[in-house]
Amino acid sequence: MKIGVVGLGYIGSVTAGVLAEAGNSVIGIEIDAKRLAGFKSGEPPIYEPGLKELIEKNHSRLEFSSDYSKLADADIVFLAVQTPTVNERIDLSYIFDAAEKANRQCKKAVLVIKSTVIPGTARELSKKISLPIVSNPEFTREGTAVEDTRKPDRVVIGAKDSNAADLVGKIWSFTGAPLLKTTNENAELIKYASNSFLATKISFINEIANLCESIPGADVEIVAKGMGYDKRIAPYFLKAGIGYGGSCFPKDTSAIASFAKELQSPLSIVESAIKVNSDRIERIVDILKTEIGKELKGKRIAVLGLAFKDDTDDIRGSQPIRLIERLLKESAAVNAYDPRVKIKIDGITRFENLEGCIKESDAVIVATEWGEFSNLKIMDKFVLDAKRILNPANFNNFRAIGLSWER
Ligand code: UDX
Repeated sequence: MKIGVVGLGYIGSVTAGVLAEAGNSVIGIEIDAKRLAGFKSGEPPIYEPGLKELIEKNHSRLEFSSDYSKLADADIVFLAVQTPTVNERIDLSYIFDAAEKANRQCKKAVLVIKSTVIPGTARELSKKISLPIVSNPEFTREGTAVEDTRKPDRVVIGAKDSNAADLVGKIWSFTGAPLLKTTNENAELIKYASNSFLATKISFINEIANLCESIPGADVEIVAKGMGYDKRIAPYFLKAGIGYGGSCFPKDTSAIASFAKELQSPLSIVESAIKVNSDRIERIVDILKTEIGKELKGKRIAVLGLAFKDDTDDIRGSQPIRLIERLLKESAAVNAYDPRVKIKIDGITRFENLEGCIKESDAVIVATEWGEFSNLKIMDKFVLDAKRILNPANFNNFRAIGLSWER
């Protein structure tokens, strides 16, 4: 089939690559000149494992352009533009704009909303455009996006037009994943309900982690392990840490909570999950102060990890960055190291190597679960493991979230 993908972010670029790999002819549309140039030159401006190779391998079936008129003959156009949350409300202007542009150019395509949108968006959009609209949310994680797109747990297709739904079902049939065909509204809500549930699972275990810290002998890692053996609970997304971040969980939980409130049907559990997540930073600063003294002014604190999780250079919604902002407010001197994130952050010193960063600091906080941190051994300064990846035996002066003070 002839496929268009509008918006070459993490989701759009991976969708384009995987659909080209499946034998389709794909045109990726991107209006950001710098980003477009990256894809055209074979150097994706995004770090996502396997993406560069995917694009290289399938370049004969992949084209990149900023020109919407190239979508004229497309059978399916995926919209994968951003849907940011502004003041707790979702901003749908990018998706409406892209949809209207595609609608003007396409002769026959089915328009597929890949971006995360609030329930009712497809319905609203269908009042403005003539092409059939299918809701086909993505459930891919950064870092494993290529594999998640090749082999998703399920494909959700929401549509009013059953021919359009069948066409989109066909394009994903190579994945072998279970297909759920439903209404646009259900599809839109499945995405939010799934992400909110996962975020809640993380906040739940983070609260249990807080409790473990007050129970001599308790360790959240073991509690989570014991819970995870139960098939009804499952071991995933039960890793206590600094709190969830990224481009999805914070924005989606906040968007669906405020949407539900407006409908007078508040999601109090999701609201609590958001609050627990936001409190993580204060909790970590409290532990730090208990160990190295209330006055952080002038103390040199190493924050190891800036990315919102390992294996990505993405700092959107990053909890480590929120931690840094909080430490700077306390007038601490912040040193930071991340194997991938190389941006400039005002007010901090960013190191190019891990050892240098640790050496120049009075205390160390592990804030992202990068593999290279897991073998750390530091005997001469306080270390706080906010991601539970370190071996306590490798430290003299050590605390970890969810590990009781008294052993
Ligand atoms: C998430 C969803 O998993 C994905 O389905 C959706 O399409 C987009 O949002 P992503 O943001 O890439 O994907 O990251 P994910 O691996 O889900 O992690 C999100 C955050 O939660 C990270 O900050 C991570 O460190 C944190 N996390 C995850 C935990 O703190 N504990 C866990 O057990 C799992």
